[in-house]
Order: sequence, then structure tokens, then C-alpha cells
Amino acid sequence: MKERENFGSRIGMLMAMVGSAVGLGNIWRFPFLVGEYGGAAFIFVYIICVIILSLPIMFSEFIIGRRSKSNAFRAYVKLTDKKIWKYVGGLTVFIPLFILAYYNVIGGWSLDYFFKACTLSFTGDVDSASLSALFGNFISSPWKPAVSLILFFTITAIIVYMGVKDGIEKFGKIMMPILFFVMLAIAIWVMMLPGASEGIKYLFKPDFSKITPQVCIAAMGQAFFSLSLGAGTIMTYASYVKKEENICASSIKIALLDMMFAIIAGSAIMPAAFAFGIDPGQGPGLVFETLPFIFSKIPLGAPVAILFFASVFVAALTSTISQMEVGVAYLVEEKKMSRRKACTTLFAIISVIGIICTLSFGPLSGVKIFGKGIFDTFDNIAANGLLPLSGLLASIFVGWIMPKADTLDGFSSGGSQKFNVKIYPAVRFLIRYIAPAGIIVIAIANIFF
Ligand code: PHE
Repeated sequence: MKERENFGSRIGMLMAMVGSAVGLGNIWRFPFLVGEYGGAAFIFVYIICVIILSLPIMFSEFIIGRRSKSNAFRAYVKLTDKKIWKYVGGLTVFIPLFILAYYNVIGGWSLDYFFKACTLSFTGDVDSASLSALFGNFISSPWKPAVSLILFFTITAIIVYMGVKDGIEKFGKIMMPILFFVMLAIAIWVMMLPGASEGIKYLFKPDFSKITPQVCIAAMGQAFFSLSLGAGTIMTYASYVKKEENICASSIKIALLDMMFAIIAGSAIMPAAFAFGIDPGQGPGLVFETLPFIFSKIPLGAPVAILFFASVFVAALTSTISQMEVGVAYLVEEKKMSRRKACTTLFAIISVIGIICTLSFGPLSGVKIFGKGIFDTFDNIAANGLLPLSGLLASIFVGWIMPKADTLDGFSSGGSQKFNVKIYPAVRFLIRYIAPAGIIVIAIANIFF
């Protein structure tokens, strides 16, 4: 059998993982959740969740992926003979494809907004009402968002078809830094606006009385979603990672960078929303209504808008690539499909589901499942249900099923990283007890309170 590919360079693999992690979750999802769930209190719980839940689970996924050197399905099957884990493997492959279906919707929106930026739609005589109408008309159209979605997804599929090294590495390396600096510049400009201070307070001064079980589950869901955890992506990428790579250092770097992106995106959007009188709790449209308004006001708004939406588009793309890669690796390695057939099969099925999701902002807006639209239901099931569940199972697997010696070996690259060996007892405690208990407590609190 052909040897599995390894990442060409160290920075390449880190970038690909950061590429998977940093995406619409940071730029689109984080700000609107912050607006919906009470600002700084949400951010506070989110950061705690990243540290005590996400990090141990990221270590677990790294250990599973690298030790098994397999796709997310085979990983579990290879490391234990207990049959039940086969289903966990199956679930882990299913989840990113489920997310991909509705993530493509927002990927399509960002592509469309890139085109809008190129045709100077955010310059001249625009106000927040006209931008809101522009957005509303677009998402409720029966065909426009579907066309954008297909275009966006086609680009993802072609890159995935091209393979791990060529496709993914080059992209991440160039565009991530661009996105970072554009967002930082926007955030600095926005923070200096008159009237921004309310927004800054809202972001950074927590009102602890706002913390409810609903805030906790949304923050936990975001802590998984944003770091691509529970979705087999880190596991799949980790399976391509060389043995010497330091799991602990890489995970912390990825988590820190990802958090920084989210906080900067929040800092660009929230103060602006307050300064311009835009409702921060309006939901998924927040970024698409607030930022174009900023672009219409700042110096050099037109080129900045183009650069911004181009980089959001790429950030979304590096995330969808990682989601699709999980399914493709499974179909190629387990079902012996050609890479091409795997890509086209997934493309066909996931496009149809994605189009149904786009229609939930238009012709299907009346369809409600337990009071939520189709798109929101997908997002809710994925982030607040499937990801924490699968993360929980990964931590149980590493903490309770795998032999301790193997997990230590994985975490410390065969004992060669002395620092990792030293902290392993604490890490193991987090993996075995704290992460699973935290997830279970938050889930139960949500059901009963
Ligand atoms: N982490 C990505 C983001 O923040 C989304 C993602 C979720 C990617 C799950 C892969 C798997 O946009």
C-alpha cells in the first residue's frame, strides 16, 4: 500500500490545522453568539471551556490520530477490539459532513459578499437600513444563495481532490496572516469610533449574573466548533503528522491563535454595532450587516472590503477542506473509492442538503423544528450536541480505553519531550475526569434548567 502522506513541513501542518480551526466559526459565529448570549459573560465561559474541555480533547484527538495513522473511522477500530468503538468512528466521520452541509451556506454568503465588495456595493450612499435590505433580499432569494453555495462547495471539492500537500498547505500559509492583519486593523479603527466604548464594555466587562445553562452550552459548543473538535478533523490531520511533533505545544498554539482570531473579530464587530445602532443580538446576519457598514465609512473602505471578504472566503475554505477531507479519507481508505469518486459522491449528497438549508432563510422559512428553522436546527444539533458528544467519547477513549503507556508515548513523542512527560499526570487527569464531567454536567444542566 502507498505510504500515507506526511505534511511537507512543520509550519505547513500547523497552518493546516489553524486553517481548519480558524474560519467562519471565529468571524461569523463567535460574534453573533456573543451578541445573543450577553457579551463578556459568554466570552468568559467560552475561554474556560477552551482551557478545561477543548484542550484535553484536542490532546486526545492528536494522540488517537497520530498513533493510529488512520482516517477517523479506522482510528478507533485499529486501537481497540471492542466493537462498539466502530460506531464512534462512524459517528466521527459523519459529523464533519453534517457540518459541511450548512457551513457551505455561510461559505456561499461570504463568496457572494466578496463579489459584492468587488462591485463596490458597500461604498457611496449606503446606510444600515439599505445594507440590511441588501442582505435580507440576498438570503431570502430562492436561488442566489444556492448558486453561491454550489460555487463555494465546488472550489472546496476541487482542492480536496488535489490532495493534502498541494491543496491545503499553500492556501493556509498565505491567507491566514492576511486575514489576521486586516481584522486587526478594522478592530483598531472601530475601537476608536465615538460611541464604541459601550461595545467595548459589553465585550470585556462580564456580568456574571448572565451565566445560565444555555450560555454554558452555547459557549461549550463554540469551544468545540471553533477548534474543529469532535469532528474528526484534528484526528485526520494528526494522522498525517510526524512522530516528533510536539502535541502539547501545537495544541496550545492552535487554541491561542484561534481564540485571538475570535476575540479580534468580536472587537471589530461589537463596538461598531453599538456605535452605529445595529442590534448585536440579531443572529447569523450580524457580521454581514455590520461590516459592510464599517467599510462604507472607513478610509480605503472599498479595497479593505475586498481584501476582507477574500480572506474570509479563504478562511472558510480551509475549514470546509478539512471537513471534507475526513469523509474523503474514509471513502478512499475504507470503501476503496477513487479520490475523484469520493469527492463527487460527497459533493452530490452534501450539496442537496446544503441547498435545503439555504432555503430556510427564504421559501422554507416557515418550516420549524421545535421552534427553530432548518439551518438553526442543523447548527444547534451539530455544535451543541454532536461535537460535545464526540469530544466526550474521544476523551473517554484516551482516558479509559487506551493503555496509559501508549497515551503517554503519544503525548510525549515516545518520551523524548521531557516537559510533556512531566505534565502528563495533570493532563491525564483532565482527559479522564474533568473534560468528560464538564461536558456531562453542562448537558444535564441544559436539559433540566
Ligand atoms: N473550526 C471551524 C471554524 O471555526 C469549523 C469547523 C468545525 C471545521 C468542525 C472543521 C470541523 O470555522
